[in-house]
Amino acid sequence: MSEQVICKETRTDQRATIRRKCSFECDETAMFDPRPTACRASGLYLWLEGDEVPYLDLIQGYSTTVFGHCDEELAEQVSRTLKILDHVNGMTSYSREELAHRLAMLTPVENGRVYFDVGGALVVSLAVRLACKITRRNTFLALRHAFHGFSTEGEELSLSFLGTAHHRLPQGIDIRFFDPGSEEMIEQILSCRYAAILVEPLQGANGLRELPSQWLKKVARACRRSETLLISDEIQVGLGRTGTFAAIERYDVQPDVVTYGKALGGGVFPLSALVVSESVYHRIPDWPSSALGSTFSCSPLGCSIGMHVVNRIDNLLKIGRIRFLGSLISRRLTSLIGQAEITTVRAYGLGIALDFGDRSAARRFVNVARDQHVLTYACGARGNTVKLYPPYTITESEAHLICDAIGKIAISVEML
Ligand SMILES: Cc1ncc(COP(=O)(O)O)c(C=O)c1O
Repeated sequence: MSEQVICKETRTDQRATIRRKCSFECDETAMFDPRPTACRASGLYLWLEGDEVPYLDLIQGYSTTVFGHCDEELAEQVSRTLKILDHVNGMTSYSREELAHRLAMLTPVENGRVYFDVGGALVVSLAVRLACKITRRNTFLALRHAFHGFSTEGEELSLSFLGTAHHRLPQGIDIRFFDPGSEEMIEQILSCRYAAILVEPLQGANGLRELPSQWLKKVARACRRSETLLISDEIQVGLGRTGTFAAIERYDVQPDVVTYGKALGGGVFPLSALVVSESVYHRIPDWPSSALGSTFSCSPLGCSIGMHVVNRIDNLLKIGRIRFLGSLISRRLTSLIGQAEITTVRAYGLGIALDFGDRSAARRFVNVARDQHVLTYACGARGNTVKLYPPYTITESEAHLICDAIGKIAISVEML
């Protein structure tokens, strides 16, 4: 056996060990079994170990790499920042102050105040803690099939729930779930017993489901009357995805609290933010308290990346680029209705959902897509929606390329 072969085997063995050590999760929606190793990425494309042909990545970290993979402008921003200031604790930085200012300006809460952290579930947990503190109530309202994140088991202050199943709630906190559109929920809000209602303006994990617009307006009015906080979880669909900075803008409703994550760090830094209205802020006398946050929650590097991301998104929104590309793609994909059991095409800016007749039709589509080197994802309470999250920076010809690829998959599914 040559030395080269020995080395190769050793590396493979090491990889297997590494994989065994870090693979404790079981994801029944996984496209690959076993999970592949990602080696390289650029723009729309992703290279997996042992495969020279790249994959067209339409998942993009569930709307995290919104400028595509390994974006050059973002890489330059990281490198520029690292020549000036990397990390400090116990003090502020220009990038942190500027990002807080920009987020407050762009978020539809009244005179916003901003807190940063390093993960979506963390700022959702914080929003819940703050709501308890302000309202002195400890019961929450949330919507069925919502997703607000997972956090560490056993953590007293962690919060995670998915639709009707909730577990590991912070001690003493309770949550009641209702369907979007529920009149009973509005009555409940008016009973003045609830600290807050959490909504995703479009339910991301549930396949990009909109909320009934008039109902949400009623919810917002009921919240005002009963001093219940309205929390808009924008972690997946906020930051420009739907064609407005915050996705809740589509309803003309003003929340008290907004959470951002995923795209805020551009896919290169785990950055999240909580934006609260001034009146909420003034009701929290000791905020921001030194008991909050973690080592990296105010990272100057993270905030500099956040500034770059927010400014670029704002520029793209100002020229209507996200809406333009979204309607181009949805116009073309709509012609696929009736093929491969596609029943509906719904586009919210560059958040695009294809609904299928049932779960197995969606699954078939995802599997054929994977075989054609296109990464898509089936989701939703019924598992019958395939969600596409193209980067905001695609060119028109890339938008057509995506539509061509989806069209080809639909034809292949038809021929099965
Ligand atoms: C709407 C929403 N909220 C919260 C989270 C949790 O974010 P993280 O995974 O960064 O903790 C997610 C993650 O997918 C999400 O989609």
